[in-house]
Amino acid sequence: MNEPPVVTAYAPGRVELLGNHTDYNDGVVLGAAIDRGLTICGSNRADGIIAITSSTMGSVRVPASNLQPLVEERWANYVLGVAAELSSSGKGFSAEISGDLPAGSGLSSSAALELATALFLLKLEQRELPPLEIAKLCQRAEHRFVGVQSGLLDQVTSLFGKADQAVFFDARTEEVRTIPFPEDLALIIAESGKKRELASGAYNARRKETRAAAELLGVAALRDVTSDELNKRRDLPELLWRRAAHIVEENERVWRAIDLLEAGDGAGFGALMNASHESSRKNFENSTPELDLLVSIAQQLPGVLGARLTGGGFGGATITLCERGSAEAAASKLAARYFERTGIASRVLISHIADGAQ
Ligand code: GLA
Repeated sequence: MNEPPVVTAYAPGRVELLGNHTDYNDGVVLGAAIDRGLTICGSNRADGIIAITSSTMGSVRVPASNLQPLVEERWANYVLGVAAELSSSGKGFSAEISGDLPAGSGLSSSAALELATALFLLKLEQRELPPLEIAKLCQRAEHRFVGVQSGLLDQVTSLFGKADQAVFFDARTEEVRTIPFPEDLALIIAESGKKRELASGAYNARRKETRAAAELLGVAALRDVTSDELNKRRDLPELLWRRAAHIVEENERVWRAIDLLEAGDGAGFGALMNASHESSRKNFENSTPELDLLVSIAQQLPGVLGARLTGGGFGGATITLCERGSAEAAASKLAARYFERTGIASRVLISHIADGAQ
């Protein structure tokens, strides 16, 4: 008997450069795909079984018909959710997941796994879909099978990423465009060592709070408010005002950052990253003591232009913008000082902006 053909798909992780929690508020965001990711390799099966193996998480076998989220092996829900969305149900497959993108580190292993699965299944079925449709079906899988009401930033960045380019995404108009990232700048990722997997409740709560703020302000989404307008609305409940301020100012920072990137103004871009983190800390309360510490250590190192948490927050990683010539020294000092203060051996690395999913 002939062996079924083996296919492979890859999707990278991402960093969010600016535009924190703006995506589900119809806002704008700047991200970049990184040089770490997840690969799925496998083939069709004739017995109607989905068999998934992960080099780090273990393995599961479930019937392909009537797919439901698993209660225990929750890591597999990203794969099963995408299979359900693609309505590949009924058809079995074997899939082996491998890669160098750790789960729960804030670099969007979730979206990478969803996208790698989607591209893998589409190849298996010899089907094609427009990229934005693929991003959206992965997002739906996350909503339905994982329970995180995430926006589209992660999937769009991982899918549309280009080497040495930042990805701009406008969640309302769905415009996606890449912007060259200045060659003399480097990005340093520092993992806080605190996983963000239990953060889905806090994430969904922020989504509700920002929605409530938009309703009180009488707009379709916080995208429609400027910081001047918001400053005149101090009648809002204080907590909702702060949540709204974060989103409104993040959008404004992204618009400014595009011009700064295009002008190669790393110092200006870094200052916006610092302001973004401060707003996360004070207004959005999605930082943690560990993320604050990584950011404040980084901000004092020679050559560093700015630092902030990246992605959802509540744990995960920070991103530091640094002059390229100082990046090696800054990364090793950041790891050493963080270890001195916390005892946590954080993974700190200089990240390269890479091509998106294939
Ligand atoms: C997570 C979500 C994204 C986005 C970021 C915060 O990464 O998956 O959709 O909301 O948080 O900007």
